[in-house]
Formats: sequence, structure tokens, C-alpha cells
Amino acid sequence: MPPFRLPANSEPNTDKCGNGKRRSIDDNLPGERRSVAAMSDSRPSRGANGEINKLYPIDRAVHEWYRFVLSFPPHLVRHYLERFGIQSDHRVLDPFCGTGTTIVECKKLGIPAVGVEANPMAHFASQVKTDWSPDPDGLLEHACQVANAASSELESEGIEDDPLPLFRGIGQNSHARLRTLPRESQTLLLIDSISPLPLHKTLVLLDCLNQHRDERYYRHELLALAKALVCSISNLHFGPEVGIGPAKPDAPVIAPWLAVVHAMADDIRGMHGISDVPVEVYRADSRVIFAQHRRRTTFLVMFSMSCLTTGLWKPHRPARPTACWSWP
Ligand SMILES: C[S@@+](CC[C@H](N)C(=O)[O-])C[C@H]1O[C@@H](n2cnc3c(N)ncnc32)[C@H](O)[C@@H]1O
Repeated sequence: MPPFRLPANSEPNTDKCGNGKRRSIDDNLPGERRSVAAMSDSRPSRGANGEINKLYPIDRAVHEWYRFVLSFPPHLVRHYLERFGIQSDHRVLDPFCGTGTTIVECKKLGIPAVGVEANPMAHFASQVKTDWSPDPDGLLEHACQVANAASSELESEGIEDDPLPLFRGIGQNSHARLRTLPRESQTLLLIDSISPLPLHKTLVLLDCLNQHRDERYYRHELLALAKALVCSISNLHFGPEVGIGPAKPDAPVIAPWLAVVHAMADDIRGMHGISDVPVEVYRADSRVIFAQHRRRTTFLVMFSMSCLTTGLWKPHRPARPTACWSWP
């Protein structure tokens, strides 16, 4: 397989999470902070909840690095920020920030924000999505090195990561032993959510990521792998709820991962000039952390009412902020 090189403006693949053709970052954001009031096109139109809850193409940058079914769409965050007249001298708190829609959107708009999230994976996604400090060229270069290392490792085992579709899963790795997860990790997965060969290739890539670990890029590269796993490597299927789709005996791993890293690098490049907006993310129980911020400045507190009834959330309910107020 030819080595992975720094891509020359290639577009990331379309995948089932909607990571389709991306608009240029220039279509998305100006290279300077803009006031919320300037975004008058952000008002959600009346329509079906399904439409209202969709991620607009214009909002893909950063938000798309990792989202989950509970995420509400960035344009609704903008709408509420505008309605409450929130500007860069305010601060917004999302006490149940999930994968960070509110705090990412605030950062894009130059508004300081605080997010609190109890779930480790969602917290990790929020943290990474609000860190635009990596050098985009360095990130891509490092990811290409990791990709080449993983590709060589697979080839030495007689495995091609991305064979022609007709040959996927056929004659691959008839001799080598496929890597598996430790039993305790295995039990956390939905049964059949990933086929053995794609899992093996993912574990090889993860191993290479750890061997070539560079703290400047590691967390972004890991989140990119999580995104690629959920969106194209695994057998997961997204309807109104997450389920298992038809099993894929084989699926490319390295190229989809690299495509996500590439998109991240593009987005970071486009955020030049606004990466210093202060955004904090805490992994904590928001009932406890509230006390720490009470003494500071005025907040807009924004979250979905369904968060108050965690465990009772129904996927057909609109995922959008239903509670906003100025506090204290
Ligand atoms: C509906 S999701 C939020 C989605 C978010 N608005 C977004 O767009 O990504 C609710 C989140 O609240 C988190 N959560 C529930 N109880 C919590 C608590 N006591 N403290 C912190 N986070 C909590 C859950 O882990 C979940 O990620």
C-alpha cells in the first residue's frame, strides 16, 4: 500500500454520521469574533423537530468532531444566545454539556463558557472539541506517520486495510491471530457492534497511536478514532435510536480515521484568531460544581430539560435547550 502523505485538499469521506462534503471554513466563520446579534440567520424556522434538530452544513466545523444522539443543534444555541443578548462579556454555563454543543458554539462566537459533564467519554469529547491549540500541519503530519506505521504492521500480518470492496474480508489474515479486547472491555460493547477484522485493525492503529504518542496531538487523534469507529468502522446503525446494522466482515480503518483528523486540522486552521476564548470543561457532577462558580459573573445557564430526568430521556423528544435563564 502506498504510504499516507499529507493530503492535498482532499475531502473527507461521506459517512453515516453525516460527515459529508464540507463547506470551506470561510463559508462557516469569519476569522474574527463576531457578535451573536450579527447572526440573525440563526433563528430556527418552524418545522418538524427532525429538521430543526439537524446539524446545518454551515455548523459542521468542530461540532462534527464527535456528536451523539443527545446533542442539540448549534443553531438553536445561537438562537438562545441571541434572544438573551449574550455577548463576549458574559459567560454561559451548560451543566450537562454532553459532547459540548453549547460550549463549542460559545467559543466560536467569542463568548466565555463553562461546561460540566459526568460521563467520561462525553467529557473527553467536549474537552478536545474546545481545544484548538494543536498546530494543524503538525497534527496531520503526525497522524500520517501513525497511519503508515499501522499500515505496515497490518501488511506484515498479510492484512490490507482497504482492499477493493469485492475482496473485503476475503483471504485477509488467514494465518495471523486477530487481536481482541480484554473480557471486561468486551462486556461494555453492544454484541456484534464491531466485526473481528475491523476490531483487530482498530486495535493495531490504537497500538501505533500509543507507540508514537505525542501529547500535542494524542487526544485529537483519539477522538478522531472514536468518531471513525462510531460512524464507519463499526456495525452501529443510527435511526432514532442507536442499534446494530448489518455486520461488516471488513471495513477500512486507517483512511476514515485519517479523514477525520484531516477535517479537524482544517477546522483548527479556520479557527485561527478565536482559539483563546476561555472555555472550561469539568468532569463532575454538576450538582456539586455549581457552588464553585456561583461567586463569579453572570451566566446564561442552558441545558435540555430532559437532562433533569436523566434515564427518562426519550429519543423521539426534541433534543434542544428547553431551559435558559440568567443566573444569579
Ligand atoms: C442531553 S445530554 C446533553 C447534550 C448536550 N446538550 C449536547 O448537545 O451534546 C445530557 C448530558 O448530561 C449528563 N449528565 C446527567 N446528569 C449529570 C450530572 N449530575 N452532572 C453532570 N452531567 C450530567 C449526561 O451524561 C449527558 O451527557
